[in-house]
Amino acid sequence: MILYFSGTGNSLAIARQIADRVGNQVIPLRKAIGLDLTHEKRIGLVFPTYWLDAPIAVRELVPQLNISPEAYTFVVITCGAQTNNAVWSVRRILREKGVSVSYCNKIRVPDCSALAFGRNPNNQAWKFERYAPRLEKIISDIAAEKHGLHYAGFDPLGWLLNRPSIAAKTQKTTRPACNTEKCIGCGICAKVCPQQNITITDGKAILGDKCTSCLACVHFCPHQSMELNGKPTLAERQYHHPMVEVKDMIG
Ligand SMILES: Cc1cc2nc3c(=O)[nH]c(=O)nc-3n(C[C@H](O)[C@H](O)[C@H](O)COP(=O)(O)O)c2cc1C
Repeated sequence: MILYFSGTGNSLAIARQIADRVGNQVIPLRKAIGLDLTHEKRIGLVFPTYWLDAPIAVRELVPQLNISPEAYTFVVITCGAQTNNAVWSVRRILREKGVSVSYCNKIRVPDCSALAFGRNPNNQAWKFERYAPRLEKIISDIAAEKHGLHYAGFDPLGWLLNRPSIAAKTQKTTRPACNTEKCIGCGICAKVCPQQNITITDGKAILGDKCTSCLACVHFCPHQSMELNGKPTLAERQYHHPMVEVKDMIG
């Protein structure tokens, strides 16, 4: 079983590519909560790096998983550049449950948070050229149930950046807000939100308090009505993994 968390489809696409080759089922991490997965012999976790760590949603959901310490457990992290503490955090959480990670690795992909800083994630398509052979190697490692902990060390910078007082300020830059003048209430944002944090009320998208800054709503909105830092979202800067469409995001 491969469990994923994904906002712009990078982690979902990679979870699926691994699953196609090693013959596992793929489900959203959220849907795995409450399931008895103790009979699964192989458990995979695929998710992005956010702010030099694992997404808060992932850190909240992983402790609730019901998985066996005997399973071959692998973690594959997507990132724009580096994973910093993403593997370290999740390994620590799993260790508290008595589960050791057997294998972990990372894949660099176009960075969907570039939009928050006025850059275009679509200018990073070159990362796909390196990604393909790297993914191939990771898949063959997982298929052979190899052991190996890559990018799993502790990073003090990641720890510092995630102290609540600092995080409260920095992470505001990746919290979307709905521009109600542009929003037509089509509901695509609500469908793609992995946190089920968006409702449509009186024809407009309303965000709740469970946002984990995945930016799915910002990148998938066909009217560019989800904005960051009060700046207009430009269609040419909206990004999602080329193998993932809105329907795939409805996990
Ligand atoms: C809020 C946010 C913070 C991010 N922080 C980092 C980071 O610290 N380091 C990094 O390399 N990439 C970072 N990224 C880029 C993502 O890790 C990358 O785009 C990832 O593949 C997104 O996965 P997804 O498409 O499955 O949601 C960040 C993205 C977001 C949305």
